[in-house]
Amino acid sequence: MTVSTCVGRVSKVIYLGAEALIAEGEFLGRSVVFKQRVSKPYRVPELDRAIISRRTISEARILTLLEEVGVRVPKIVFVDPLVGLIVMEKIEGLVLRDALKDLDWEVACRAMVSAGREVGKMHRAGIAHGDVTTSNMILARDGDVYIVDLGLAKHVEDVEDVAVDIHLLIRVLESSHYSAREELFKCFISGYREVVGEEFTREVINKVSEIRLRGRYVEERKVRKTN
Ligand SMILES: Nc1ncnc2c1ncn2[C@@H]1O[C@H](COP(=O)(O)OP(=O)(O)O)[C@@H](O)[C@H]1O
Ligand SMILES: [Mg+2]
Repeated sequence: MTVSTCVGRVSKVIYLGAEALIAEGEFLGRSVVFKQRVSKPYRVPELDRAIISRRTISEARILTLLEEVGVRVPKIVFVDPLVGLIVMEKIEGLVLRDALKDLDWEVACRAMVSAGREVGKMHRAGIAHGDVTTSNMILARDGDVYIVDLGLAKHVEDVEDVAVDIHLLIRVLESSHYSAREELFKCFISGYREVVGEEFTREVINKVSEIRLRGRYVEERKVRKTN
């Protein structure tokens, strides 16, 4: 990791993904998370640097915008696009995917309502997350859900962009929380509806059904071809 300044100290790497290395540590006396984008050896070095810097700037800008409109996201402490580094507030808590496995039903539902409100606020601000999974949500100790990982986020151009977020969340609930998927989604959507309203929620859900049908159609065609 390139963080070797006298103002910051990395104490522990907590996650190594395809795109970034995440570590905990201290920066100017605060508990922080360092998100360091990693180089891809198969990319031409110049292009690699350009992609890393562009994604870092985009994530930092969107985090700032979301914080301004009151979405629970980590506050940015420092950004260096040249090396692909974002230093941000550390959210103390558990990744929602893990938390949901041990929570009793009422607490799990409350967490999903909170997640729905935050995604709703994000959509209302015109941002689609691009990777709405329960791994990109942190259940803080006070019961509020925070959204992280805005690396794929973008400005909404069409209702399809926000529907894709909800579609992905449904798929994640189906694969990681199968037995409670429908109830958990109901809790989520009630928080979402509270923020964006009935009409918009209905429009999004209709679009999600359309995306799911399209997906099923493609799957069925694949099965027909292989038979
Ligand atoms: N600000 C933060 N506070 C606490 N944990 C975080 C924070 N940011 C990221 N994490 C943890 O690191 C993991 C990976 O971070 P993320 O931004 O999702 O990286 P990637 O783009 O590689 O998925 C998250 O799932 C979460 O567990
Ligand atoms: Mg992630």
